Amino acid sequence: MKNGQIWKDIDGNDIQAHGGCIIEHEGVFYWYGEHKGQDNCPGTRRVDVIGVSCYSSSDLVNWKYEGLALSADPSDENSMLHPSKVLERPKVVYNEKTNRFVLWFHSDSANYLYAGVGVAVSETPTGPFKLLHTMQPNVQDSRDMTIFVDTDKTAYLIHSSNWNKTLNIARLTEDYTNVDGLYVSVLIDQEREAPAVCYRDGMYYMVTSGCTGWNYNSALFARSPQLLGKWKLIDNPCEGPGYRDTYQGQSTYIFTVNDKDYIMFDHWKPQDLKSSGYSILPITYDDQSNMTITWNDEWKGI
Ligand code: DGJ
Repeated sequence: MKNGQIWKDIDGNDIQAHGGCIIEHEGVFYWYGEHKGQDNCPGTRRVDVIGVSCYSSSDLVNWKYEGLALSADPSDENSMLHPSKVLERPKVVYNEKTNRFVLWFHSDSANYLYAGVGVAVSETPTGPFKLLHTMQPNVQDSRDMTIFVDTDKTAYLIHSSNWNKTLNIARLTEDYTNVDGLYVSVLIDQEREAPAVCYRDGMYYMVTSGCTGWNYNSALFARSPQLLGKWKLIDNPCEGPGYRDTYQGQSTYIFTVNDKDYIMFDHWKPQDLKSSGYSILPITYDDQSNMTITWNDEWKGI
């Protein structure tokens, strides 16, 4: 699969799973993302909400379309799942206590002024997920976001807030379906979005982009020895040709397979969002806790 380009599923159709995440459950990988499989609304940089797609794979290369895990609701204009809204960056986590899959996403109005999150649950990885609620977490505005599950299985919502100036890290309830009231603001006034978080050898890492809409910019990584502690922006983790513009990509998720970390990027095409590409690239670390992302022309899976 050529990194930076749109990828095909095993039926030869474009994979529609933008702004997504990959999780492993019972030996199967599931890739969830935004289905943007129709033309942009004329003259805009938006596609009406279709839903959250789910794909499955055993090797991270051959992906089978499992359908929409969460579907738009064209019947109810007031629903946050109505096609006229915004549904971005879906992230799914499995809750061991409730045996449920929990899907969080950036839920917004078309003008991005609602600035909230949506939460949906399902008993199976492929759905259908049922919307539980949408909200502004801890009464804070929330745009780009991710979910991170810590080593002790406590989960956190990490979201751009205060008009994208600052990131909040908000602890979730034990069932992962709500925030529990505890949150901290980090990277204050640094204007970062597209957070992707991981933990490696005693250190938490967060890759983010700058705030330039769908346009690429330089990624930066931040790190902190404690998730709710003091985070510091360090450097652009990308190396090699195109590193300055993040290879024309934007971070969306970090996953771990066989004890190796990989980052997924979206390569947005703002005028034709359905054709936006993907890349999956390896992450390495040195003994000074510096993170490096290396470009490969091809993603060959595991
Ligand atoms: C940047 C975000 O990272 C994307 O997910 C999307 O919200 C665009 N902004 C919209 O302009």
